Amino acid sequence: MLASKRILLIIGGGIAAFKTLDLIRRLGERGVTVTPVLTHAGAEFVTPLSVSALAGRKVFTDLFDLTDEAEMGHIELSRSADLIVVAPATADLMAKMAQGQADDLASTLLLATDTPVLIAPAMNVRMWQHPATQRNIATLQGDGIIFAGPNDGDMACGEHGPGRMAEPLEIVAAIEAALADGPLKSRRILVTSGPTHEPIDPVRYIANRSSGAQGTAIARALTALGADVVFVTGPADVPPPEGVVLHRVETAREMLAACEVALPVDAAICAAAVADWRMASAASSKLKKTAGGLPQLEFAENPDILATLSQHTQNRPGLVIGFAAETDDLEANAVAKRLRKGCDWIVANDVSEATGIMGGSENAVLLVTDTGTEAWPRMAKDRVAARLAQRIADALAPKV
Ligand code: CTP
Repeated sequence: MLASKRILLIIGGGIAAFKTLDLIRRLGERGVTVTPVLTHAGAEFVTPLSVSALAGRKVFTDLFDLTDEAEMGHIELSRSADLIVVAPATADLMAKMAQGQADDLASTLLLATDTPVLIAPAMNVRMWQHPATQRNIATLQGDGIIFAGPNDGDMACGEHGPGRMAEPLEIVAAIEAALADGPLKSRRILVTSGPTHEPIDPVRYIANRSSGAQGTAIARALTALGADVVFVTGPADVPPPEGVVLHRVETAREMLAACEVALPVDAAICAAAVADWRMASAASSKLKKTAGGLPQLEFAENPDILATLSQHTQNRPGLVIGFAAETDDLEANAVAKRLRKGCDWIVANDVSEATGIMGGSENAVLLVTDTGTEAWPRMAKDRVAARLAQRIADALAPKV
């Protein structure tokens, strides 16, 4: 699937650069042509010789290399690939990308390109969590940069947490997803997933039991058919899919805001289990037990994201799909929900305890559309996702 693809690989200056050598090898095994660019900091960690030996090609390092300019200018270099991959993407490189700085070859290529860009961040956990990096992440996600990782784990610096570069095979999977050709190629699809958390006070929240598994499987299936997926997820149990534009949110209102920023999209699939209510005003300090009795919690209704997208006046997605998890009168409730929310399709499932569907690996769904209801046989959740993705591909006219 990756055979004959061309990747411009920018290697930043981090200890994880040693894993990039393995990435080059893995890509080579799959028939990918890798054109390496090594930053000056990157060359402190891996040598140009080992990079070019593995890639089987010259390594580019300098912006003002007259020989390179004569052979291939940096603008041409930036556009001569199917995908630009930055691994490791350091905090510094990400800051430059977010700012649009172009003071060396790597940052200039990233600013000059019109090719999709995938980054595999790698940095110390504190650097990853720093508000400045988090602002840069949000900017880059908004610019459509695809993230692979980072993972949680032990770091070379002795600390533990998010910031570890994704493993080479995980990056390969993200690259495959980003380059997938298929019936949904060039289609931009929004998927919401996971639960939302609505704060009661700084330590407590309202939530639900959604693991995010079905939404994640759907995003994966859409990506496999070539879609550009914007994945807006609450705090889910399962890791997010690779190769998507990822927005992590906590609350329903943040989820809605992230969805609205993602518009326009060709289709929206609302698989998130959004909390219907939040506190009218969350306490800013921890609620304490008092002799005076129980705290009085006042609720406010959250926005309905599915209904908002379905009834959007300027930017309604061409196809809007909602979910209905019901315990009684499945079909009648799902048909009514489709009309009430104004969406095109409802994927309904019976989550009453006897079905074993909630928390299980299988699902039996009803697909409710404007032409009627179809009962799908019980199958693995991944299969439900693949079948739904194929139905979406069939419903959206081929894009040329
Ligand atoms: N949904 C949403 N925003 C909300 C609530 C729900 O986008 N604030 C979406 C879910 O992602 C799902 C669909 O609406 O696709 C159905 O959610 P559900 O909770 O079953 O519906 P409700 O609106 O809560 O209706 P009811 O209380 O009758 O079950």
